[in-house]
Amino acid sequence: MWPFSSKQHQASLSINGSDAFDIGKKETILDAALRQGFHVPHSCRVGGCGTCKCKLKHGKVRELTDTSYLLSKQELQENYILACQTRAKDAVVVDFPGWNKTAKPVSGKLLTIEELTHDIFELTIELEEAISFLPGQYMRLSPADGSLPARCYSFANVGHPENPKIISFFIRRVEGGNMSNWLTDPAHIGETLIAEGPNGEFYLRDIDGPAIFIAGGSGLAPILSVLEGAIEKSHKVIFHDALFLFGAREQRDLYALDRIEKIRQGWGGHFAFKAVLSAVQEDSDWAGAVGMVTEHIPDTPTSFNHAYLCGPPPMLDAAIDVLVSRQLNETNIYLDKFSDQSSS
Ligand code: FES
Repeated sequence: MWPFSSKQHQASLSINGSDAFDIGKKETILDAALRQGFHVPHSCRVGGCGTCKCKLKHGKVRELTDTSYLLSKQELQENYILACQTRAKDAVVVDFPGWNKTAKPVSGKLLTIEELTHDIFELTIELEEAISFLPGQYMRLSPADGSLPARCYSFANVGHPENPKIISFFIRRVEGGNMSNWLTDPAHIGETLIAEGPNGEFYLRDIDGPAIFIAGGSGLAPILSVLEGAIEKSHKVIFHDALFLFGAREQRDLYALDRIEKIRQGWGGHFAFKAVLSAVQEDSDWAGAVGMVTEHIPDTPTSFNHAYLCGPPPMLDAAIDVLVSRQLNETNIYLDKFSDQSSS
């Protein structure tokens, strides 16, 4: 009786409060969820992106890989696992936080592709129907013809001021990345995409106090979305001081600086912005900050009581270590970790 390979294996799976259903001995939690029709968040399916992370609430599992490179210390302590790298051994119950199980895929047309840097592009898509999302969340995008698997991208806006059906994303064109090359190819303007979501737990909490925001590379999208959303909603965080550190390699990797300047002007408290370059060219006229973004986190222990971080895992891990060493409570650090595999 498929999917069991032996009568002894009688594991089951329940997702976000669903009825339990059978899971095969060799199936991962992600494969079983998708087979059952649950479009849970996922992207690379090989343990490389962290999109499928979920909380193990009950049951025994077997993990196929060491996941500590993608999950934070706190997530590991809280029993987070990667669904694509975990099999069930008995009656397993998991929770995908922030997963909107009632969201249905929506189709839309690729409207525009604007070059922001040599490898980052802003895409706009007009959906067939408007969706509501929280600034900082993400969608899974794929060509409607099914030629490529879906990839996850964070919203780069808070919604179009005139047309709520228009959403935008920043896409980094990854060398050899089929999806990012497809999405940033002007030949595909006008083509139909499928958008699934919104998903994700990276959104502004009900916080009151000074905050630090750190972004790296195309990780700018959800941070911009969160900051602009805070201003639009007059969230109480805007009446406190904030520091925004944006880490990039070279000057040519900086973008959206005009939007950051508008955020600075619209912030109620003092809003400091610092772009930090890690690989300044010798002939560059750059006079700003250099090094790693973590070197520019102020060393005053109580400067900030909340942090929002988005970027590649090594940058975020380093930032968490520094912030915790400055006595920021780890539960007040919100992360959106991504790797090239999750968006290639
Ligand atoms: S889908 Fe599981 S880590 Fe990428």
